[in-house]
Amino acid sequence: MSNSNRPTPPGTPDRKIRRALVTGGAGFIGSHLIEALVERGVEVVSFDDYSAGKKENLDSVRGRENVTELVGDITDAKSIRKAMAGVDTVFHEAASKKTVCMRDPSRDLAVNAGGALLLLQAAVELGVEKFVHASTGSVYGEPIEFPQTEMHRLHPVSYYGVSKLAGESYVNTFAHLFGLDTTVLRYFHVYGPRQESSDVGGVVSIFLRRALQGHPLIVHGDGEQMRTFTWVGDVVEANLRAATRSIARAKTYNCASGIRVTVKELAQKVLDRAGSTVPIQHGKPLVGDIREFDVDNELITRELGIEFEKDFDRGLGHTLDWAMVAHASGLIR
Ligand SMILES: NC(=O)c1ccc[n+]([C@@H]2O[C@H](COP(=O)([O-])OP(=O)(O)OC[C@H]3O[C@@H](n4cnc5c(N)ncnc54)[C@H](O)[C@@H]3O)[C@@H](O)[C@H]2O)c1
Repeated sequence: MSNSNRPTPPGTPDRKIRRALVTGGAGFIGSHLIEALVERGVEVVSFDDYSAGKKENLDSVRGRENVTELVGDITDAKSIRKAMAGVDTVFHEAASKKTVCMRDPSRDLAVNAGGALLLLQAAVELGVEKFVHASTGSVYGEPIEFPQTEMHRLHPVSYYGVSKLAGESYVNTFAHLFGLDTTVLRYFHVYGPRQESSDVGGVVSIFLRRALQGHPLIVHGDGEQMRTFTWVGDVVEANLRAATRSIARAKTYNCASGIRVTVKELAQKVLDRAGSTVPIQHGKPLVGDIREFDVDNELITRELGIEFEKDFDRGLGHTLDWAMVAHASGLIR
């Protein structure tokens, strides 16, 4: 969809966020986003069913007078409306995970597509000014053109990719039908403190946990699969700018660092950083695992001015520091 607004420099906000709803607020990315909003003096409502989110993810903001923590399910229209009352900006981060999708694809569809639809309906009815939607690189499926721009064909090869694509299609439909001010951010391989490190988590946090616990790192397949690891702070900044820059209206952006690290390289980096001597073992390749990523982030860089962290070792170091403390205090098992 095209944007008729006159572009403003990436550094200039065009609107202010006063009260925001963050769905999936107790999750990995949602909790970082809430911290950033609170720091900026925004009133925040966190809405999470705690199916994957954790109470401790919101410890740093709990009890602040501008933070409301609600427990609820985005497939329940009534509780969504309650949570959205008085809100001017919605950041929709809640989603069922890839692993849940494989086990229960109809629940996955109900959450990732049906939940998005209910939130959008409520947003229009309640006069929300801005809706920022977390999507994923999984909507592309196996890439056929490199680098992969936002115009790449959409051909998801996982239930998760299908349901997330349905979610973002609803977002675009609401922008088209009702003029809702929306932005879709397609995230890729986000990493950082608080990422789920159990076996359903992200590969960075799983490897860090296993290294700290002295367990072998399991690389699925040959480990040559490429990843474009993206620092969580950059994803937060992309959300804040998407919500406040008029140029982002009705746009879809790849939100990816553009760095390229194979899973095998990651495993070695984790061992080196953690000073661990556990072996790297190879397991069966994962079904639907995409091998190649070369993601074009030119649009988000130019229009929103996001300067992605290119030094993966630095981000990995910060994440390891957090994981060591979390491991020592029993928060990661
Ligand atoms: N982490 C990544 O690398 C990555 C990559 C691409 C896209 N994304 C997207 O980013 C968003 C945030 O992901 P994350 O990594 O923080 O995951 P996460 O699992 O840590 O956070 C998602 C949160 O949503 C909550 N949730 C799930 N179903 C819900 C429901 N029905 N009602 C209310 N809350 C519900 C969970 O409890 C969890 O706290 C998701 O939309 C995900 O699809 C993440």
